Amino acid sequence: MQATWIQPDGSATTLDVPDGCTLMQAATARNLPGIIGECGGSLSCATCHVIVDPGWFARTGAAGPFEDQMLDVAEAERQPTSRLSCQIKMSADLDGIILHIPAV
Ligand code: FES
Repeated sequence: MQATWIQPDGSATTLDVPDGCTLMQAATARNLPGIIGECGGSLSCATCHVIVDPGWFARTGAAGPFEDQMLDVAEAERQPTSRLSCQIKMSADLDGIILHIPAV
């Protein structure tokens, strides 16, 4: 399965992501710029903020209540399809997902 991250400058990186791996883990394992994952996925840093491409948002679903609060303190201003990528696990349903890395 694959996911694509698009940088603020428009450059895109597509990575293989194993089933069940979070999109934050996949990005940080390859040192993708803009995704830090400082807290390791424990929902306490918001440095894994991504904007889900609107065409995919119905499949990822919206943030849960605690994630929603964390998005309010993310460095880059949140957008309607913002999510924390440590809370999105790859699955067959998300194969091909496109994520935008917010400009800070
Ligand atoms: S990695 Fe810290 S909130 Fe996602």
